[in-house]
Amino acid sequence: MRIAILASEGAPYAKSGGLGDVMEALPAALGRIPGNEVVLVLPYYKKIKENPKYQTELICHFDVTLGWRQQYCGLLRLKGRDDNVKVYFLDSDYYFGGRDGAIYGHGDDGERFAWFSRACLDSLMRIGFIPDVIQCNDWQTALVPTFLKAFYRQCFPHTRCVFTIHNIEYQGWAHGNFFDDVLSLPWEFRGCMDMNGSVNMMKGAIETADMVTTVSETYSRELMYPYYAHGLDSVITNASWKLTGITNGIDTNTFNPATDPSLPAHYDADTFKEGKAACKAALQREVGLPVKPRVPLLVMVTRLAGHKGLDLLCYIARKLLWEESCQILILGTGEPQFEQFFRDLEAQFPDRVAAKLTFDLGLAARIYAGGDIYLMPSKSEPCGLSQMNAMRYGTVPVVHATGGLRDTVPPCTEDGQDGLGFTFQSYNGDDFLAAVKRAIHLYSKNRKAFSQLQYRDMTQDFSWDKPAEKYMNLFRQLCGQ
Ligand code: GLC
Repeated sequence: MRIAILASEGAPYAKSGGLGDVMEALPAALGRIPGNEVVLVLPYYKKIKENPKYQTELICHFDVTLGWRQQYCGLLRLKGRDDNVKVYFLDSDYYFGGRDGAIYGHGDDGERFAWFSRACLDSLMRIGFIPDVIQCNDWQTALVPTFLKAFYRQCFPHTRCVFTIHNIEYQGWAHGNFFDDVLSLPWEFRGCMDMNGSVNMMKGAIETADMVTTVSETYSRELMYPYYAHGLDSVITNASWKLTGITNGIDTNTFNPATDPSLPAHYDADTFKEGKAACKAALQREVGLPVKPRVPLLVMVTRLAGHKGLDLLCYIARKLLWEESCQILILGTGEPQFEQFFRDLEAQFPDRVAAKLTFDLGLAARIYAGGDIYLMPSKSEPCGLSQMNAMRYGTVPVVHATGGLRDTVPPCTEDGQDGLGFTFQSYNGDDFLAAVKRAIHLYSKNRKAFSQLQYRDMTQDFSWDKPAEKYMNLFRQLCGQ
């Protein structure tokens, strides 16, 4: 099957969050399935352009039309990739390559990604890659299914389009004029793009795509409720007949405690006791906490954003430190009020709390390895990847039972039997505190059961093989194969 994957970011080339990780692992997993031809198209950001690791060749160039605009697009192919995925970068200095700063957050993001979405379709046409399925992701490529229907049907008569929602919070809102001025779509598409007079690109994709997927089964059901859907609950409900939840995997080669080059000691499910003890001591030393093998080390790697559940952690942190013997280590950057909170907490409990307010992938890996208990109290979580990273490294998760957290962390009993971690059902601090305490008590009072739980976590299959098969089933169904 010929599959084109279109996205605004993809690791290792450009990544701002979980979407980038998925866009690294999903194309590779689909590429491993015999008979598939996989193409991944990404913007040629300045960071990629300037990175000597990524050598490219120019395939062709052309102008892309967007309303009255015509902008140059260079179509580049990445050289030297040794798997079955062809990576193309779309070069536009005007929209991407000539800009400093973050991937998103520019005043004209709407126009930038509208251009990218059209340029993707133009590019596939130019290279003569007529996909059976186009898979596009989040609001940045949400215009693809509509552009496909409106402008490209003749070139791609049988191509079906799957739109994947990684996070419904960011929808690609624009002023109503955007419809004519930038998109220049035929009038019949006004309705699907319209939301209260404005343009909503994600809504357009949900309505026009042949299938919609999201990144966990639970999230696909949650999206029908206003609490989770950020205004799109009725749009989702109307589209529920074509909505499927497929829970992400993680890249189990990159995230492997037996080989991860960032770790001071390596281990697998049979040797984790010694391996994790060495990693824990090294981690405590690295972040300036006293080396205490028997004190549970609670860790969190996260963007410091409200929906990650930081308000709950702030609410319980002091009570937890007063009532239990434990250490807390947090890594991440984000909203200033949370950064300040953790700076203050560290100042108040210097030998029990470490707050590393930076972005550091190596330290993140050492935290997954050296921690005992991983906290993830997200208010909502479409899928979440770090709870799976933590489990793969033998760190027991404590999570709010929502979205992908609910699907990947079945709850264990108080004495550590059955599940994979500790969960709490309703989003409040006391329930979170109780779940953290259950984890700490198991750690301190029943080390054998805690180790068995760690073993179960480490031996789960979080690879992309099964999710990739689910995507394939969906694609086959769509193409009538
Ligand atoms: C978004 C979601 C996260 C998910 C990731 C990859 O970042 O917030 O839950 O794991 O996309 O699908």
